[in-house]
Amino acid sequence: MRFLASVNGNVLVAGLLMGGLMLLARPAADGPGLFKANCSMCHGTDGKGFQALKTPDFTDPKWQASVTDKQITEVIKNGKKDTAMPAFEGKLKNEEILALVAYVRSFGSKKK
Ligand code: HEC
Repeated sequence: MRFLASVNGNVLVAGLLMGGLMLLARPAADGPGLFKANCSMCHGTDGKGFQALKTPDFTDPKWQASVTDKQITEVIKNGKKDTAMPAFEGKLKNEEILALVAYVRSFGSKKK
């Protein structure tokens, strides 16, 4: 029993260490940087969009209220059919897409 308990303890400590190292090794996805590099040419660095491209104004509370996080995630992953909005699945990692969803949402809370 005692032996088992100490083995379990070691496994637990090793597991925690590994988890901690993996977290350290993985940089948090940079929402603003990703947006600038992949989205701002069509959505504007300020997220307000361009009339000529028919991109929505992410700072508009009405737009923010009209979409769910899930919809934003799907649109970034799969693009929007019959529009210029491209699909980013396979180009961006899941966590990068999630960081972009959060960044798109953050435009709604910025008064400009
Ligand atoms: C080539 C231009 C282009 C690029 C690049 C682009 N988009 Fe879009 N996006 C569009 C257009 C055009 C629309 C509007 C589609 C429509 O008519 O509903 C759109 C719509 C959206 C919408 C709103 C969808 C909805 O249902 O209202 C979101 C969210 C979005 N884009 C996020 C992004 C993000 C995040 C990126 C970068 C990873 C990105 N877009 C890159 C052109 C682009």
